[in-house]
Amino acid sequence: MPSLHFPLFIIFFISTYKITNASTSFVSPITRDQSTSLYTISIYTKTPLESTDLLLDLGGKLSWIDCNSYTSTSHHYIPCGTSLCESLASLACSNCFRQTGPGCNNNSCGLFPENPVIRNSVLAQALVDSVALVVNGGEFGELGIVPSFVFSCSDDSLLRGLPDGVSGLAGFGRGNYSLPAQVSSVYASPNIFALCLPSPSATSSGAAFFNTGGPYYFSPGTDLSSHLTYTPLILNPIGFTVITYYKHPSDEYFIGLTSIHINGKPVDINQALLTIDSDGYGGTRLSTVTPYTTLQTSIYLAFIETFVNESAALNLTMTDPVDPFEVCYNVSDVYSTRLGPAFPVIDLVMHSKDVFWRIFGVNSMVKIAGEDGDVWCLGFVDGGEKPRSSVVIGGRQMEDNLLQFDLVSMRLGFSSSVLVHDTNCASFNFTEGPDL
Ligand SMILES: *[C@@H]1O[C@H](CO)[C@@H](O)[C@H](O)[C@H]1NC(C)=O
Ligand SMILES: *[C@@H]1O[C@H](CO)[C@@H](O)[C@H](O)[C@H]1NC(C)=O
Ligand SMILES: *[C@@H]1O[C@H](CO)[C@@H](O)[C@H](O)[C@H]1NC(C)=O
Ligand SMILES: *[C@@H]1O[C@H](CO)[C@@H](O)[C@H](O)[C@H]1NC(C)=O
Ligand SMILES: *[C@@H]1O[C@H](CO)[C@@H](O)[C@H](O)[C@H]1NC(C)=O
Ligand SMILES: *[C@@H]1O[C@H](CO)[C@@H](O)[C@H](O)[C@H]1NC(C)=O
Repeated sequence: MPSLHFPLFIIFFISTYKITNASTSFVSPITRDQSTSLYTISIYTKTPLESTDLLLDLGGKLSWIDCNSYTSTSHHYIPCGTSLCESLASLACSNCFRQTGPGCNNNSCGLFPENPVIRNSVLAQALVDSVALVVNGGEFGELGIVPSFVFSCSDDSLLRGLPDGVSGLAGFGRGNYSLPAQVSSVYASPNIFALCLPSPSATSSGAAFFNTGGPYYFSPGTDLSSHLTYTPLILNPIGFTVITYYKHPSDEYFIGLTSIHINGKPVDINQALLTIDSDGYGGTRLSTVTPYTTLQTSIYLAFIETFVNESAALNLTMTDPVDPFEVCYNVSDVYSTRLGPAFPVIDLVMHSKDVFWRIFGVNSMVKIAGEDGDVWCLGFVDGGEKPRSSVVIGGRQMEDNLLQFDLVSMRLGFSSSVLVHDTNCASFNFTEGPDL
C-alpha cells in the first residue's frame, strides 16, 4: 500500500527521534496542578507528534483524548465486531452524522470513557494512533513509539473538573489497555511501572517510569529501587466504574492494610472494614485523583483521636479547624525537621508487622494560611459511613514517595518518603524530549 509511505516519511523528516528496540524503558514528567491538586503526565501523541498533557489516573482502565480538534495523519477507527473491539468490552456500536473524522465514523467501536473526578462518562468512539514516550537515559530527543495505541475519543464536556491545559486522561489501571500495559506489550517488556509524584513545593517535574523495575536514579545519584519494601497487590473482583461492566474486576490497585499505628500506638479499627467484601466494598485503595487520604467514618474518628492524643503527648494543642480538615495546630508551636513538621509518625502496616509505609509530617500535614496565621492540618478526611473503599490513600500522602506497580509479580513497592534518602521526586534528571 504505497499511500502509507507518505506519512511515515514525514515523521522521519521532521523529527529527530529514533524508534528504539525491545526492553527499552521510558520516563515521562508528572506535574502537580495547584488549583485542583491533581497530577498531569506529558506524553507525545499523533503524527506529526505533539506534546500532550493528560490527567494521571492510577485506576483508569483506558486513556481518552478530546477529539474535537484532533488532527493526525496516522489515526484509524476500530470497526464494530472486530476482536479488538470485543476485547475492549465495547457496549455499543456507533454511527456518526457529522463530517467523518477522528471520533466520527460509521460502524465504529463505541466506548464509554470516564472522568473519575466528576464521575461522568459519555458515549464516544475508540481510536488507534501513535503515541511516543521519552527513552529513559536516552539521548536528546530520543523517543520510543507505540504505533497502534488504543484509546477512546471524548468530547470537551468530559474535561470538566480537570486541570487547565489537559486534553484527556492517561489510564494506569491493571487492565490490558492501560498506558503502561500497552507500552510494555509493544516493547515485549515486563509491565512494571513506577510513579514519583511531586509535592506542592516542587520547582521541577516528578517522574513516571515505564517497562522497568529499576534502577530509578534521582539526584544526587540515588537509586531509589534499592529502598523499596513490597506488599502484594490485591484484586477487587467488582469494578466501580460509572458504566457497569458485567463481571469486570476493578482496574484499581488495592493493598492489604492490616493496621495503622501512630507513634507506635495502634488505631482501633474494625478489621472487617479492611477486607474487600463480595460486593467490592471495603479494603484499601490507592488513588491519584483523591487529593487527601479518606478513611471510613469509624476509622477516621479513631484515627484522629489517637493522633490528637499522641500530639498532646508532644505538648501540641489543637487550634481552630480549617475546612475540610478537623485537626489543626498553630505553625509556631511545631518544630520543623527535614521530614516536615515534627508530628507523630503514622505507620500504615501491611500484610506483616514489619512491612509498613511510614508517613512523616511532610506527608501527613497540610499547611494552610488562616486568618490568625498559618496552621498545620492533618491531611486526612472523613470518607463517610459506607464508602466503597474503607481507606483511599490519596495524592498528598504519595508525594515524594516512590511507588512501583509490578504487574508481573502483582506487588506494590513503596519507599516511604524519599526525603529520608536526601532526594525528592522533582530531582529526576530528565534528558528532554524533542521540541516539536
Ligand atoms: C453514516 O451513515 C449515515 C446513514 O447511511 C450517513 O447519513 C452518514 O453520513 C454516515 N456518516 C459518516 C461519518 O460516514
Ligand atoms: C490480557 O492479556 C493477556 C495476555 O495477552 C490475556 O491472557 C488476558 O486474557 C487478557 N485479559 C483480558 C481481560 O482481556
Ligand atoms: C485519648 O485521651 C483521652 C484523654 O486522656 C482518653 O480518654 C482516650 O481514651 C484516649 N484515646 C485514645 C484512642 O488513646
Ligand atoms: C511537655 O511539657 C511538660 C511541662 O511543661 C514538660 O515537662 C515535658 O517535658 C514536655 N514534653 C515534651 C515532649 O516536650
Ligand atoms: C499562633 O501563635 C501565635 C503566637 O502565639 C499567635 O500570634 C497566632 O495568632 C496563633 N495563630 C493561630 C492560628 O492560632
Ligand atoms: C543531568 O544530566 C545531564 C546530561 O547527562 C548532565 O549534563 C547534568 O549535569 C545533569 N544534571 C544534574 C543536576 O545532575
